[in-house]
Amino acid sequence: GMFFDNTYRSHVNLGKENSACYYYSAENGNLDYYFISGEKMTDIVEGYTYLTGRTPLPQLWTLGHHQSRWGYMSADDIRRVAHKYRELQIPCDTIHFDIDYMDGYRVFTWNEKGFGAPGAIIKEIAEDGFKVVCIIDPGVKLDPGYAKYDEGIANDYFAKTPEGEVYVNEVWPGESVFPDFGRKEVRDWWADHHKELLDMGIRGIWDDMNEPASFRGELPQDVQFHDEERQTTHAEIHNVYGHNMSRATYAGIRKHTGKRPFVITRAAYAGTQKYATVWTGDNQSLWSHLQMMVPQLCNLGMSGFAFAGTDIGGFGADTTPELLTRWIEAAVFSPLFRNHSCQGTRRQEPWQFDDQVVGIYRKYVKMRYCFLPYLYDLFYQGEQTGLPVMRPLVLHYPKDPETYNLNGEFLVGENLLVAPVLEQGATKKMVYLPEGEWYDYWTGEKITGGKYFLRDAPIDLCPMYLKEGTMIPMYEKMAYVGEKPYRTLYLLTTPGEASYDHFQDNGEDYAYRKGVYNLYHFHKNAQGVLETEMRHKNYPEYEQICLKIVGK
Ligand code: GLC
Repeated sequence: GMFFDNTYRSHVNLGKENSACYYYSAENGNLDYYFISGEKMTDIVEGYTYLTGRTPLPQLWTLGHHQSRWGYMSADDIRRVAHKYRELQIPCDTIHFDIDYMDGYRVFTWNEKGFGAPGAIIKEIAEDGFKVVCIIDPGVKLDPGYAKYDEGIANDYFAKTPEGEVYVNEVWPGESVFPDFGRKEVRDWWADHHKELLDMGIRGIWDDMNEPASFRGELPQDVQFHDEERQTTHAEIHNVYGHNMSRATYAGIRKHTGKRPFVITRAAYAGTQKYATVWTGDNQSLWSHLQMMVPQLCNLGMSGFAFAGTDIGGFGADTTPELLTRWIEAAVFSPLFRNHSCQGTRRQEPWQFDDQVVGIYRKYVKMRYCFLPYLYDLFYQGEQTGLPVMRPLVLHYPKDPETYNLNGEFLVGENLLVAPVLEQGATKKMVYLPEGEWYDYWTGEKITGGKYFLRDAPIDLCPMYLKEGTMIPMYEKMAYVGEKPYRTLYLLTTPGEASYDHFQDNGEDYAYRKGVYNLYHFHKNAQGVLETEMRHKNYPEYEQICLKIVGK
């Protein structure tokens, strides 16, 4: 593996003129190369994440289903969405508040006209198990009298022109200024502002537009920023602006809650995975963008970002019943599981469509909730190894050339293979299974790998396969994480011998780092007898463990 650590504007050319020649260049800065050696591809990912940092174990609820839309204009809109999810019995944990919850898009303010008394709607839907994530943009409105602007000016916290004037460009609030996040005191100031939001009951922060985006053209290269004490320019800082903003947000949430911070960021650099989850920005409701999801999330995973997702259904343009259906199926194991769309487009909650869409949407979201302990185990392991949740087949089958350019299927962990339908109108899927014995998740049929075959995939079916010898932990379905305690653990397993390690803790804070958790080692022998060995025991255990054989 190779990591070229340079934050300047960079150019990547992978064989554009000559397929024998790849090159990478940057316009300035140092030639800092790191080479990562290893026998296996997984060694490279482990080595790279040892260097740049690993995605930490998130809170369990963050792995649930999230609903978002740019276009929820009032507390009433939010309330209706929350009620509808419970009424239709489609599990949902989180509702995202896009920019309209703010007063005139001033960050760290509240739009009382549309959203009522600050925080009231958050408390109201929390009674029904909903958590709220709100958006924060870096651009601070140029508005004397607005506290955040005045404080930043008084303390000299904003980026400047080479002539020493505060630099102004335009974002959602109109004329705006940009915090100089490379400086510790600016990050601390920003971090502490999150306390007001957290005190209102907000559970996570969505850092957007932090490239930084600007409407009156990009920031000139010579705008003055800092890298800690050292003065530098936008040219050097641009690619780490989102990284530094996420770092501040992470620190603020951690300091003021003591829980594992949930931060989503649009812009990132190598290492941002330590602080934030990413999503792939403003995609469109297009089949080609659904297809892109698989390589995008697998590549992010291989680059350390185990926690990533796409806007399910597509952000821009109008989605269709079939596209939304196939997207929710394909994304059921996407680490970040969020339906989001742009104002002015067709609304995208499942009930905007017919009963068939609602039924299939419900089926897959419920399935997601069943698989939560599996995803959580993968995050727990990933914190120690850097290996991602969603993986390209080549990561585990590097000697099989068929996996080198396979963009229509992926692994979840090592032993669950998902082959979603990604083409409009298709009701069959050409599936490739690598070497070994596999079991069809839906029918239990045993299939020997090392071949392609055609699998029927009607509109409500996403082909999935379990490798022989696997166990997958599952929970019972719930409307949201925390609805009831998880008393039973189900182990979905293939026939014959199988084993698995499972982690259990409170799903929220850092107690596990002080030993407050259970680690189970399950082993099922060829006769189907399950043995449980507690490799670490310091948390209330499940009351029962149930074995389920795949397809039965
Ligand atoms: C950006 C974000 C998008 C958000 C919109 C409004 O386009 O990428 O997700 O909805 O801004 O805040």
